[in-house]
Amino acid sequence: MKGNEMAKYAKLDPIYPMYDSEKVKLYVGNSLDIVKRLPSNLIQSVITSPTYWGKRQFTNDEAEFGTEKLEDYVKRNVELYVTVLEKLKDDGSLFIIIQDTYMGSGVSRTHHNHWDHNKDPSYKREGIDSSSQGNKTSVTAHHQIIKNKSLSGIPYRIALQLVDKGYIWREQIIWEKPNPMPENVNDRLRQSAELILHFTKSGKYKFHKEFFSVKGQSGKERMENQVLIYPPEPKKGHTATFPSKLVKKLLLGTTDEGDTVFEPFLGSGTMMDLSIEYNRKFIGCDINPNFVEKCISRLKGRLL
Ligand SMILES: C[S@@+](CC[C@H](N)C(=O)[O-])C[C@H]1O[C@@H](n2cnc3c(N)ncnc32)[C@H](O)[C@@H]1O
Repeated sequence: MKGNEMAKYAKLDPIYPMYDSEKVKLYVGNSLDIVKRLPSNLIQSVITSPTYWGKRQFTNDEAEFGTEKLEDYVKRNVELYVTVLEKLKDDGSLFIIIQDTYMGSGVSRTHHNHWDHNKDPSYKREGIDSSSQGNKTSVTAHHQIIKNKSLSGIPYRIALQLVDKGYIWREQIIWEKPNPMPENVNDRLRQSAELILHFTKSGKYKFHKEFFSVKGQSGKERMENQVLIYPPEPKKGHTATFPSKLVKKLLLGTTDEGDTVFEPFLGSGTMMDLSIEYNRKFIGCDINPNFVEKCISRLKGRLL
């Protein structure tokens, strides 16, 4: 099925999976609509990364994250993760990989001038502006209260509400990129990190510490520092850059074989590939039918 045909289908019935096997279910649509219909107490881990506010735009669908007002972006994220909370197992985890946005940063159009995108045209992003990437809206251009040049505080705005609504906020992991995107600034440091917010449903949760431990100076094992250093990993045809090595650690550290992983922002399908490789069940969805279609094409001919 072609992308736009799939989208029509998804609009008719947002709970109809585009791919449905015992181990993998893939949906096209708004992740909030989909998560609402999942059974309670099903998901062991959610490891996800919403479209960052004001930075990308892949469709003209109003439900797409990232093109709305700041307050609505925060509200949508909170609503989604609060709904996820009902579906998480009692010992489940939620990881949100997220970056803040500077107010006044305007329309984002520069991203493809980096890394391998110049060298290999197949890395060209699928966006909807004239250069096939970026965010057409100007939601980040001005805010009534937050002054231009200020960080908007998005990760914290979301995290504080999730804590108030029942999550335990266990950790703020810092994903440090040794080769961040170049920035044309002279009055602050360059942005080289993203946050990985780790939330749990209860104080006692599945956590296999061997995936997060290192040998200390004394030769004894200790827990790793909260700053994890990994280069971004550009994906063909998608802006997502989160490195599989990093998210693999989160996956193996908080799930076991046979557990169910949910990815509300499927994108290039990093979590799908890892879940299959490590024998986890996987439910994913994306508002962009083309992304789901690409993931489905990778599953063809496999017994899942
Ligand atoms: C940062 S990317 C996710 C990257 C992904 N983790 C990966 O491995 O590539 C965000 C994705 O969210 C999708 N998206 C945006 N709003 C959505 C919504 N309301 N429901 C489902 N997907 C949405 C976008 O199409 C995009 O593919």
